[in-house]
Amino acid sequence: MKKWELKEAVEWPIKHKEAFDYADVETPKGILLHGPPGTGKTLIAKALAKMTESNFISIKGPELLSKWVGESEKGVREIFRKARQAAPCIIFLDEVDALVPRRGTGSSDSHVTESVVSQILTEIDGLEELHNVLIIGATNRLDIVDEALLRPGRFDRVIEVPNPDQKGRRHILEIHTKKKPLSSDVRIDRIADLTSGFNGAEIGAVANRAAVSALKRYVSGKSQNINDIKITQQDLIDAVDKVKPRQKEIPLLNS
Ligand SMILES: Nc1ncnc2c1ncn2[C@@H]1O[C@H](COP(=O)(O)OP(=O)(O)O)[C@@H](O)[C@H]1O
Ligand SMILES: [Mg+2]
Repeated sequence: MKKWELKEAVEWPIKHKEAFDYADVETPKGILLHGPPGTGKTLIAKALAKMTESNFISIKGPELLSKWVGESEKGVREIFRKARQAAPCIIFLDEVDALVPRRGTGSSDSHVTESVVSQILTEIDGLEELHNVLIIGATNRLDIVDEALLRPGRFDRVIEVPNPDQKGRRHILEIHTKKKPLSSDVRIDRIADLTSGFNGAEIGAVANRAAVSALKRYVSGKSQNINDIKITQQDLIDAVDKVKPRQKEIPLLNS
């Protein structure tokens, strides 16, 4: 994911509203974040709200379909009404892929989904530019997201949030160990190597598990001094294995 894409799409229009007005620059009304689970999509949406000092309304696609039985369209209208009132505001619509009508099946479910999607489209189309309401969607199934949502003027910036590379993993490890007591033998670089294939959520879990191991030594009475609680490199290595056990090769049975 490129940081500047988010800056340009989200931060600038809100922070430099007058300049955008002056230069008559069209700004995105909707941004769609896509990538595997646990890569920080929700985190990014929240961080953008904080960075731009916007209010934050969060709703999941499936909730839109079930929360207001028989009144789903009204529910969507209500969300956008609240957002306009609370502007600058970011509407975070998680699990956008749930809003795909199974066309032609004629089921009532499909009908509800269709009317929710069309109400969302109406609301997005009706958002004045620079109205200071931005809709950020998230999905891990970009391939099935309703195409109507991806047309220009809707979710027209699609930004990939992939699993982190080594540098990304190191950074995430640093974030999650910043406030934790680390022993001087800890080599974050090495743990970043060992966590290849882990997503952000799993890396967070590694840091936490390692801290629990260190805590256990203290609680079990091996030390009386709280300052002795130290996470060691071995705690981290063990945690890597616990969070995501490396798949052992299963020998093929001879038939
Ligand atoms: N880039 C990241 N930096 C720090 N922590 C992360 C990152 N990505 C994920 N995490 C951790 O994983 C958790 C879940 O991330 P989340 O934003 O819910 O993922 P997603 O919405 O993509 O499924 C976060 O609360 C955080 O602890
Ligand atoms: Mg999420």
